[in-house]
Amino acid sequence: MKILIVYGTSEGHTRKIARFMEEVLQGGGHSVVIADATDDPPSPDGFEAVLIGGSIHVHKYQSSISNYILSHLDTLNKTYSAFFSVSMAVASKIEKEHVEAQKIALDFLEKTGWVPNEVQHIAGALKYTEYDYFKKLLMRMIAKREGGDTDTSQDYEYTDWDELRAFLRGFCSKKPKSIA
Ligand SMILES: Cc1cc2nc3c(=O)[nH]c(=O)nc-3n(C[C@H](O)[C@H](O)[C@H](O)COP(=O)(O)O)c2cc1C
Repeated sequence: MKILIVYGTSEGHTRKIARFMEEVLQGGGHSVVIADATDDPPSPDGFEAVLIGGSIHVHKYQSSISNYILSHLDTLNKTYSAFFSVSMAVASKIEKEHVEAQKIALDFLEKTGWVPNEVQHIAGALKYTEYDYFKKLLMRMIAKREGGDTDTSQDYEYTDWDELRAFLRGFCSKKPKSIA
């Protein structure tokens, strides 16, 4: 398949996830184009499948991905597609956090009008060593409240790469023949 991946990122982890997706899909024999949503990504026209994702920051995704979705809404709604949402909430042991992340994703999709075939939630990363003073303080406070990792001298990555690989395998195999 000819696949387009468009991502939004604030601290770079969603880029790492998107590049991993690119590598896995290429390894599966697909032709992949990957673009940061801020870098004038190509139109989804002519692609057989599209994956668009971003990370949650204070309950919101990057505006670059909503702008991209809104600009190409008609094509996206006719193309086999998935939305991937990167957040800390899905790494949490607290069920309420997972429900909240799902709600943020559903509200976002409803607002844009995009109806992807799949929505995948992916646990992100805490990059304490890269945050400025206030971000570090904020993220440590949130992590503490949720029983997460609070040692700010190191970074933590919660992404389950095997689960992501399995998601991609499923996504590629489920494409209905009726969708162009
Ligand atoms: C300032 C800030 C705010 C965040 N707010 C949320 C949030 O509201 N909910 C959540 O689940 N994760 C939140 N996160 C966690 C990010 O979603 C997570 O670190 C993700 O890996 C970031 O991906 P990125 O590097 O691609 O931007 C926040 C992170 C930062 C730094």
